[in-house]
Amino acid sequence: MLDRNEEIQRRRIFGIISHPDAGKTTLTEKLLLHGGAIRQAGTVKARRNDKFATSDWMEIEKQRGISVTSSVMQFEYAGKVISIMDTPGHNDFGEDTYRILTSVDSAVMVIDGAKGIEAQTRKLFRVCSLRGIPVFTFINKLDRETKDPFDLIQELEDVLGLPSVPVTWPIGCGLNFQGVYDILKNEAILYKAGKTIKLGAAGVFGPELEEEITGFNLQALRDEIELIQGAGNEFDMEKISRGQLSPVFFGSALADFGTVPFLEHFLDMSPAPGPRKTLDGEVRPEDDFFSGFIFKIQANMNPAHRDRLAFLRICSGTFERGMSVRLSRTGKEMKLAQSTMLMANQRENVDEAIAGDIIGIYDTGNYQIGDTLSTRREPLFFEPLPTFPPELFALVSPKDTMKAKQFQKGVSQLAQEGAIQVYHNQYNEIVAGAVGQLQFEVFQYRLENEYNAKVRMDRLDFSLARWLSAEDSEASRLEKIKGMLDSRTMLVYDHFERPLILFANQFTLNYFCEKHEDLKLLEAMEVQSARV
Ligand code: G4P
Repeated sequence: MLDRNEEIQRRRIFGIISHPDAGKTTLTEKLLLHGGAIRQAGTVKARRNDKFATSDWMEIEKQRGISVTSSVMQFEYAGKVISIMDTPGHNDFGEDTYRILTSVDSAVMVIDGAKGIEAQTRKLFRVCSLRGIPVFTFINKLDRETKDPFDLIQELEDVLGLPSVPVTWPIGCGLNFQGVYDILKNEAILYKAGKTIKLGAAGVFGPELEEEITGFNLQALRDEIELIQGAGNEFDMEKISRGQLSPVFFGSALADFGTVPFLEHFLDMSPAPGPRKTLDGEVRPEDDFFSGFIFKIQANMNPAHRDRLAFLRICSGTFERGMSVRLSRTGKEMKLAQSTMLMANQRENVDEAIAGDIIGIYDTGNYQIGDTLSTRREPLFFEPLPTFPPELFALVSPKDTMKAKQFQKGVSQLAQEGAIQVYHNQYNEIVAGAVGQLQFEVFQYRLENEYNAKVRMDRLDFSLARWLSAEDSEASRLEKIKGMLDSRTMLVYDHFERPLILFANQFTLNYFCEKHEDLKLLEAMEVQSARV
């Protein structure tokens, strides 16, 4: 029997960040398959098609054939307990995708080798880099023609500002794909022959590969490795742990090639759960008291009841079913009677869980995103979770003014759940903000179906939001600022009555900043107060 600290050391929680179609689902499937969590590949994908046995909670999901909400998949491999947090990526990209990244200890960035770094990857990487978590890069689709691997590495540096160090290196690509060279283990894994060759001390410069790979220009590979060894970044575990250096792997998720070396190195290098900052210090996973925070609320699992599932990342202590904990925001005692753990595509009840586990707890409307639960005698607040800047905005109003009350209630509950950002402008009109179009559709659908409030949504032509500083928010300054605004900007207030300005685009924002140099506009990623 392992003791609790050894159990914690076995845990790994990560999220996959990528642009749609880079191969995130395919890679997830292969990882689960190696962990024996699913019997055959295709299970993950099925969720996106027509089998909605486990996520049948919303018509909209069925209509569109996608999973709006995300879950956790836990599996074991080589003695480690691995949780993959599913980050919605297709049309269902939303704030949830960002928030999930606040609960993970590392991230895997999947890049399509033919396309390089794409828009969504860039946005998601920003969240990881803000948190300083390690980011591992998997360059996918090597069975097809790809960009030059050096150009891909350079792109990481140029586009993301992320230095990297190759751990595996491709031997050819596309029709000429021969395999990958594992630089750390000094072995070559051959694609067609499906075998691993241990290389001598001279590595790829020795004779071993010459007999194995025929009809391939080995000199090109040797030149590349020479270049990596001569001019590339040094392998530095410290920097990797701080997210300042990304280990890079090459492979084909579809062919399940390069995935095992990736998984094994990843498990060696990725961190076990570490301490988490609180407002008065930090909580360590091995602390005895139980603590955790809610980073996601998934609503309406069963449309007949208005129940929700709150996802909790355990940060310390042991969770036991039925235990009583304190919700710090209100000081109320809560009994965690019903809880669930999500494993591949089925839910299981959990009786016990520890730091590094994610559990879902049933909620009848008590919890909010960012809430801390704990058994510590003194109140405990984890550092607030960041809120992320919406990029889409719409004016929202009830179609039927008689239903104004339901409308208000629905809007405020959905905002509380984190399904959407809600602001109001100076005329007290409601402005909704989202990072993905589907968030609007879900919001509208749920207001109609759960709150019986039909709404009108008029899209606004803004794509950026910036908070005003505390000094500029002061009444007399604010009056002056109102006079500076034109039709390409709008002043709105968030949930905490903090003013922010919406801008049509980057150009409008830059122009405004140049004209009003004395104003301090705060980049998004502003923190949200966890206290009421
Ligand atoms: P995503 O979750 O990141 O959006 O990507 P997903 O895994 O769904 O993969 C997108 C497409 O890319 C899929 O093809 C998938 O089969 C393909 N793909 C993933 N990894 C590789 C790879 O290593 N090599 C090659 N050649 N293709 C890969 P599709 O035609 O859109 O879907 P499907 O019909 O195959 O399911």
